[in-house]
Amino acid sequence: MLIAGNWKMYKGPAETAEFCVDLKRRLDDLDAVDVAVCPPFTSLAVAVQILAGTEIAVAAQNVHWEREGAFTGEVSAPMLRELGVYGAIVGHSERRQYFGETDATVAKRAKAALEAGLSVIACVGETETEREAGETKDVLRRQVSVLEGEDNLVVAYEPVWAIGTGKTATPELAQEAHAFIKGLLDVPVLYGGSVKPENAGELLELPDVDGALVGGASLDVESFAAICLSATHS
Ligand code: PGA
Repeated sequence: MLIAGNWKMYKGPAETAEFCVDLKRRLDDLDAVDVAVCPPFTSLAVAVQILAGTEIAVAAQNVHWEREGAFTGEVSAPMLRELGVYGAIVGHSERRQYFGETDATVAKRAKAALEAGLSVIACVGETETEREAGETKDVLRRQVSVLEGEDNLVVAYEPVWAIGTGKTATPELAQEAHAFIKGLLDVPVLYGGSVKPENAGELLELPDVDGALVGGASLDVESFAAICLSATHS
């Protein structure tokens, strides 16, 4: 079971430090649940420093596929490794939607990160229009197929219509999508999309849900810790 907090473009180093000190205290005796926080690039170093020696891992929200080069604004896997970062999210729907991320670039990022020794959380998920058009399985098949052969990664199923909207997938719908993804690729699958302390329990107890990628509710240390604790009962 893995609970990862995707902070998106929130929390600079000072806020990150405060959050990590508090989280460390709250999750001190948490057992059998892997926890990761994914701060913005500029807050990674302080998170790594404060969480060193704990079971709480630190991951980035993106990573480039080249080791170095003329790629303004990008950060490579060896650079993240040097900081002591354990992994990276790739292919988040916000990157696909606003920054031209495609299935091909997601695959390149995932492959390079894994080769460099980072763990990877690769995001997939259909939009509302795709779901309404009955295309969910085709979309998931297309997004997952580019990750074939990468057995070490974790997939996050994040229906785009559920991200930041307060609309969570029903347990039935999440279970169906997770089972479908696991049929394509034998990897752990996290659920993401408006996960909160109030709904985490029923989602995390589903047979094919192996954890959660939490956005909004991961920004508040109390609610993020509550989600991590509810995973211990699942
Ligand atoms: P949300 O975001 O929990 O705020 O819906 C999830 C995500 O984007 O990873």
